[in-house]
Amino acid sequence: MSSGIAHGVKTLAVLGGGQMGLGIAYVASTRARLPVLIFDKSKEQIERSLALMDRLLSKDVAKGKLEGTEAKEARERITIVDRTKAFRDVDLCVEAVAESLPLKQTLFRSLAEELRPDAILASNTSSISITKIAAATIPQSVSSSSAEGLSSASRVVGIHFFNPVPVMPLVELISGLQTSPETLERARAFATACGKEVTVAKDMPGFVSNALLIPFINEAIMCLEKGIATKEDIDKTLRLGMGHPMGPLTLADFIGLDTCLAIQRTLLEGTGDSKYRPSIFLERMVDAGWLGKKTGKGFYTYD
Ligand code: CAA
Repeated sequence: MSSGIAHGVKTLAVLGGGQMGLGIAYVASTRARLPVLIFDKSKEQIERSLALMDRLLSKDVAKGKLEGTEAKEARERITIVDRTKAFRDVDLCVEAVAESLPLKQTLFRSLAEELRPDAILASNTSSISITKIAAATIPQSVSSSSAEGLSSASRVVGIHFFNPVPVMPLVELISGLQTSPETLERARAFATACGKEVTVAKDMPGFVSNALLIPFINEAIMCLEKGIATKEDIDKTLRLGMGHPMGPLTLADFIGLDTCLAIQRTLLEGTGDSKYRPSIFLERMVDAGWLGKKTGKGFYTYD
């Protein structure tokens, strides 16, 4: 376990307290032992997430992974704040809000003003361009190629965790065009202190993880659309034939069908290559509001 200092990162802020944000706060607090500030505009979301945090800590204590005092200390390191201005002294902020470029650009513009100039601004995005997000941090009065513009954007990086964050061992780091080597190394040290293995990808659509995973899921949905096999048999083929922990349709429900569609569209728009056309059936499922586990219905139904 880390000493609580991850390469100069002594305090963390998490923007967005949903499943991913909570998971990031959890590993940072329990494994890297960092104090974590969390902001989410929804009080209900924060309450649900804190209840999940308590359940995860209790399970770790019951399984002997944490001592009772360690779990208590980890919980005490988490602080909910009611505005992002409270992030002003942190060393690193990880944004984990919905996958919308305009939303992320707006948030990064204000984070760049509110946080210290040497703080790292990271996004947990699963497919949005880090270069585009970084460009939003440069004040309009400043040229993007001036020293001030370069220094502002150079502290933006992608730190992409996987769901469920406490379980999946990987973090994919994404280096935007402007990301400095120092920012990348500080992000690597942070992820390592959180107990994760690290890979590094360039800022291309889908990076490595989702450039491979989401077209695979899309193809599985096309198999279903064409009636090649039942959903159960498509999943069983991949689980038992290839040793995947979840079949692709179960995994799509787990990730969220809206997220899968958004990433597939990013791949299509970002490359212009028709091989990334989203499955029409996936589009219709999203139109119907059947988004997977989070709405109780996707390819399967959930309680
Ligand atoms: N949060 C925290 N912990 C969880 C969890 C959750 N949501 N779900 C399961 N776990 C934990 C369990 O508590 C259990 O921990 P212990 O070993 O300490 O008891 C462990 O995971 C295994 O859980 P289960 O025995 O209940 O279930 P399982 O063996 O079927 O594993 C799974 C569940 C880990 C989710 C496994 O099915 C799996 O690895 N699935 C694939 C997940 C995957 O591919 N994730 C990446 C999605 S893509 C993404 O996130 C990025 C993106 O950009 C779209």
